[in-house]
Amino acid sequence: MAAIEWQEKYSTGVDRLDEQLRKFLDMINGLHEQYPNGTITGDTAIHLSELSKFARKHFEEQEELMQQIDFPDYTAHKGEHSALRQWFVKMIFDAKGGKKLSADEVASYLGKWLIDHILKEDRRVGQAAVSKMR
Ligand SMILES: [Fe+2]
Repeated sequence: MAAIEWQEKYSTGVDRLDEQLRKFLDMINGLHEQYPNGTITGDTAIHLSELSKFARKHFEEQEELMQQIDFPDYTAHKGEHSALRQWFVKMIFDAKGGKKLSADEVASYLGKWLIDHILKEDRRVGQAAVSKMR
């Protein structure tokens, strides 16, 4: 998978969220460097765990923001976060159990998930937050 570059159209309008999303994307792009032989397995799952921890922290913060602004689609949005959290748990469990995961497939899945999620969900949260702050 080629690295996905941040584009202005991904911006949510909330600096704090954008910072986290850029970092999330950087970490996904960085998976190739973490796994030069292309395989995530066993103890090397640590890098994937770090990415998962970062994602969890970002999701929690975003969920808090949604509650603060009474975001109407909070439950559905949180459901998307939960689905990715569960995906991470399964991938890390499999890798630690000895299954060989393709770093390219993992990066590609995460990259597509993130861009799709930003465009369909996170930007709406950003817009709602910005209009509440006015
Ligand atoms: Fe989100």
